[in-house]
Amino acid sequence: MAQLYRRRCSSWVYALVGAIIFAVSSSFALAQTGKAPMHSSLPRVLVLATGGTISGKASERSAISYDAGAVTGEDLIAGVPGIEKLARLKAEQISNIPSQNMNSKVWFRLAERINQVFAHDEADAVVITHGTDTMEETAFFLDKVIKTSHPVILTGAMRPSTAISADGPANMYEAVKVAVDPAAQGRGVMIVLNDTIHAARWVTKTSTTSLETFKSQIAGPIGAVDAASVRFFGPPVSFNHIALPTEQNLPQVRIIYAHADMDAQQIDEAVKAGAAGLVIAGMGDGNVSQEALSGLDRAVKAGVIIVRSARVGEGFVNRNVEVNDDEHGLVVSYDLNPQKARILLQLLLANHVRDKSKIQQDFLARY
Ligand code: SIN
Repeated sequence: MAQLYRRRCSSWVYALVGAIIFAVSSSFALAQTGKAPMHSSLPRVLVLATGGTISGKASERSAISYDAGAVTGEDLIAGVPGIEKLARLKAEQISNIPSQNMNSKVWFRLAERINQVFAHDEADAVVITHGTDTMEETAFFLDKVIKTSHPVILTGAMRPSTAISADGPANMYEAVKVAVDPAAQGRGVMIVLNDTIHAARWVTKTSTTSLETFKSQIAGPIGAVDAASVRFFGPPVSFNHIALPTEQNLPQVRIIYAHADMDAQQIDEAVKAGAAGLVIAGMGDGNVSQEALSGLDRAVKAGVIIVRSARVGEGFVNRNVEVNDDEHGLVVSYDLNPQKARILLQLLLANHVRDKSKIQQDFLARY
């Protein structure tokens, strides 16, 4: 009898231990599949969707054209298998436009929301989905006005969501993967696309159609990402910041593209139209014709700030090399391309910085 009692007891103990092992292992399996139990420990990423090809759908107009900005941020997240294992994601729609229509109103909306998100600890990182055409400009604007060590990453796609081998889902996955990587902290605003990580200051779109369109011509990409890893090639580099202007209407700064047979007509017209600044997309290392240089002299006399940049896509524009900038009262853009030089000048003017030596100083990257 006592023996039978002992055998019954031990079988109860075995059953209990078995049940505990089953419960523990099945909850681990649940966690491995990325379902609820482990989620509370994952980093929080807020996706701010603005539109672009990544949100595009094939158009009825033709087999290769598409309507950008047709899919929401929520849809974008839902279309990326496995992304829920990287982060707890939320999406907000900031705009839904092709990025040719990107404008300073959306930039301010983004900047204010991102500042609020980090100030109120709403997320650990922000990923912005954006059209590729002006992505570098939005990235540069945000890099200048947002002061945070939290990762802020822009991503997009060269092919719409309905295309064969659409690149959006992989770019989205990799952007979130970089956003949650501890090594991404303190690196300013970045662009992640096609397995590469770029700093906002140097990145530019170089191809109309290739997936490998974003390049950082002067400095190279700052890192690489794939499904398995995130690698940064060096320590964080930080640049100077500028206060987000209180006035949302940024001063009028125009870009004038230099070319052979260049006269001063566009320069004179821009001054007449009330431009506060002009950026010259100059030939070679930022040159213009003799006639255009006379036009620039007139513009400087009228109080317009002139920045010489270059149309060539790579290299620095330095002071007093082929053009005597001191004599003509000009500012040079160093490593900033014309579209980024324009934004920086707008931000400086909006912050009432008009002293040319101070403006020149702010064009220098702070390494
Ligand atoms: C756009 O910039 O909105 C269109 C092009 C793209 O996203 O690749």
